[in-house]
Amino acid sequence: MSVVVLISGRGSNMGALLEAGLPVSAVISNRADAEGLALAAGRGIATRVVEHRRHATREAFDAALAAEIDRFEPRLVALAGFMRILTPGFTARYRERMLNIHPSLLPAFPGLDTHERALAAGVKVHGCTVHFVTAELDHGPIVVQAAVPVLADDNAARLAARVLEQEHVVYPRAVRWFLDGRLTLGNGVVHLKGRDAQLVVAAR
Ligand code: GRF
Repeated sequence: MSVVVLISGRGSNMGALLEAGLPVSAVISNRADAEGLALAAGRGIATRVVEHRRHATREAFDAALAAEIDRFEPRLVALAGFMRILTPGFTARYRERMLNIHPSLLPAFPGLDTHERALAAGVKVHGCTVHFVTAELDHGPIVVQAAVPVLADDNAARLAARVLEQEHVVYPRAVRWFLDGRLTLGNGVVHLKGRDAQLVVAAR
């Protein structure tokens, strides 16, 4: 019942999963210099690097990545700041057992620079989303969302920091629900068994 976490950088969401005591068997990065690798290794978690630069095509990279993931026979693959576009073959292989955390209230603001775009759009509520990964970028069935008010004097950095705080709350929760078999999917909608809420509303 283990989890393999994929990262590309800082790894704070990965850190939150470790902090929550989730059964992470390995952390894999597409970049050797991802800061999160040292954090994971320091906690005795197996780390691996599969460099996208060493592969000529997305398909070849995804195949190498899948081979490495599968060595750990995870129940779940958790993307945590993994900055690669995945091929349809890869997303199909981990269908309904791969989660991602995205820093916006999807379906608003898929893609990059979400906090800047939220401020530019003048939205008054922003946040983050944990969703199942499908072939369409930042689009799969939504497991949990955290809503954060946008304050009058916000800039992208301050807003990002408050959203990140909530990412660290909801991602471990979503992974736990998955491992406990509490998530069911029907018609593209995720239902949660039991009494927890799939929405967190942050006070600030
Ligand atoms: C987070 O904001 C996450 O939502 C997004 O990339 C960022 C990764 O941060 N997908 P970290 O590496 O987990 O600190």
